[in-house]
Amino acid sequence: MCDKKTTDDFIDHNNLLTHPLETFDDMRQRCPIAHSPDNNLNKGWWAFSHAEVKQVISDEKTFSNIVSTHRSVPNGLDHPEHSRYRKLIEPFFNKAHIKAFTPQCQRIAKRLALTVKNQKNVNVIANMAEQFSVQVQCEFLGWPDDLHEPLRRWAHDNHAATLAGNRPAMDEIAQRFSGYIDTLLTARRANLAQVEDDVTNEILSATVNIEGRQQPISDADIVSIMRNWTMGEIGTIAAAMGIMLHFLAINPALQQHLRDNRQDVPEAIEEMLRRHGPLVTNRRKATRDVTLGGRTIKAGELITVNWVAANRDDGVFADANEFKWGRDQHQSLLYGAGVHVCPGAPLARLELQTMLQAVLDHSGRFTLTKHKKPISAHYPASGYSALWLDFND
Ligand code: HEM
Repeated sequence: MCDKKTTDDFIDHNNLLTHPLETFDDMRQRCPIAHSPDNNLNKGWWAFSHAEVKQVISDEKTFSNIVSTHRSVPNGLDHPEHSRYRKLIEPFFNKAHIKAFTPQCQRIAKRLALTVKNQKNVNVIANMAEQFSVQVQCEFLGWPDDLHEPLRRWAHDNHAATLAGNRPAMDEIAQRFSGYIDTLLTARRANLAQVEDDVTNEILSATVNIEGRQQPISDADIVSIMRNWTMGEIGTIAAAMGIMLHFLAINPALQQHLRDNRQDVPEAIEEMLRRHGPLVTNRRKATRDVTLGGRTIKAGELITVNWVAANRDDGVFADANEFKWGRDQHQSLLYGAGVHVCPGAPLARLELQTMLQAVLDHSGRFTLTKHKKPISAHYPASGYSALWLDFND
């Protein structure tokens, strides 16, 4: 049972490592608003149920996004600063930008899909999903190809340091990222005229309204925007690819259905990722005492919202563990909701649909490689850290 003050039986680490979905389901059923005594699992409150997660993310006055002393643009900001930066970022993901980027995304997806054609025993996380996410990220921002591998390693190291709660390592990794961006910005500024207009140049020359005046964005904020963008993109896209490919490998009838009915790919992706989300949590801080699911959260306390658990709430999605056509995906919190809703969702959808279409175009039926069990990723990541597939003719 759920102890009303704190939960001594908060998430069991061993279960979380081996069965993350079931562990979150169990917490949502036993203790939808729980208190974590555990430093490695976001000490403080956790919301697991759909209604309470929705309550938290819909009330930005009571639940602030400024959860750390480290500035993070835009995710770690509140209104009015947050709104200024959203205004700057959102146009990069509008219909025209996404349409213009589609051929480049298709080219990357096709190239990667061809590398696995007829191949057996392919670890699709390292060889396809992670490659795809960094290559698209660099192409979208206009960054050089020689950043692919450093960014991929950076995302891994960042995840390992976060998992270990290793603050000095996290600081070193943040510095490393700043180093990449500083080098890039210096080169850009020296050659602004030579580079075609791309997203990075637009951000470099953009202004934001600060104290009534349009002012250039500081270098520190440009680095922060790029870091938020990179963290938003790389881990989630790679995890989402792994989750989809795994689900289709173990559900051959659905895989065949999508081969024969390509128009159903977008809905299938939303539903596969509703059922098993690639992003697990985000955080908020209470600005006043507030009641959440019968618990009192005190001003200043932290709350972790669990997207994966909320999207598997049977009260909102009947038989939530089942893949079903025709669900109301407006209820899905895959990309969040409220003022911090994912601005990159149109790009994410383009990426995932394009990559899955390319795999279906260029390979026959794909299956799990025999005797190679997929390895679940460890929280805070989701999906699989390794997944071996056989691609048939
Ligand atoms: C399947 C892929 C993705 C998923 C599941 C996802 C999910 C989310 C969610 C749930 C949030 C809300 C966070 C909160 O409320 O605190 C969010 C925010 C954000 N995402 Fe995504 N995202 C994905 C892909 C992307 C991509 C491709 C980009 C950029 C290229 C991106 C950039 C961001 C940024 C910058 C924020 C912060 C927005 C703000 O605080 O106003 N995401 N994402």
